[in-house]
Amino acid sequence: MNIIFLGPPGAGKGTQAQKICDALNIPQISTGDILRRAMKEGTETGRKAKSFIDAGQLVPDDVIIDIVKERLAMDDCTKGYILDGFPRTVPQAEALDTFATIDSVIELDVADQVLVDRLSGRRVCLKCGATYHLSMLNGETRCAKCGEDLVQRDDDKAETVLNRLKVYHAQTAPLIGYYEKKSLLKKVDGAQGLENTFAAIMNALGAKA
Ligand code: AP5
Repeated sequence: MNIIFLGPPGAGKGTQAQKICDALNIPQISTGDILRRAMKEGTETGRKAKSFIDAGQLVPDDVIIDIVKERLAMDDCTKGYILDGFPRTVPQAEALDTFATIDSVIELDVADQVLVDRLSGRRVCLKCGATYHLSMLNGETRCAKCGEDLVQRDDDKAETVLNRLKVYHAQTAPLIGYYEKKSLLKKVDGAQGLENTFAAIMNALGAKA
């Protein structure tokens, strides 16, 4: 099953994509994680992306489309995948249509005020991509999966978060209509607890939990 997770920053796309990918045994393809890894490694793509990400802006379409096209051609994608954070603009969605067939688009719906709280408390592992919230860490500072130090993302600072939300409403929200027209969109309430949201997504996908 080829799935897109759509939703504003902090809606829980990354958190739920990890859980659903484990359940369905398919890879999670997070363009945000790919770009952050490239920045950490100091590659040319990472250097190009940094100024956009730090400002809460989207990385140019041509940069990201090539990355995703290359990634979807890898062997582990033959049985399906979850695209987490791509597409994010109508041109990206149109490009995706030329090299992939999508079965379902899950829209995670969460109000802006909840998103700001989630993002300011988020801590991430830059090594394995695991995501946590301060409220669940009980003072723990290392990743439970790989032991790496957890960090706050630079783009989770208050002023950048507000800009990312503006960018989402202006540039990414139009994709809701784009996929509604194709009868692929399934809206899920992402403001529920982690397990209820997980169950609602599995149900929307017609998969067994
Ligand atoms: P990216 O990393 O994709 O960021 P994003 O879409 O802004 O999404 P987030 O990772 O912030 O949120 P999420 O929905 O995954 O939430 P999470 O599960 O972490 O992109 C970063 C940047 O890269 C972009 O700004 C852009 O510059 C660039 N980029 C990436 N893709 C691009 C593209 N296609 N085109 C152009 N540029 C691109 O959860 C958030 C927090 O909430 C966590 O702490 C979590 O523990 C908590 N939480 C989650 N679910 C729940 C719940 N149900 N209840 C309580 N807490 C919860």
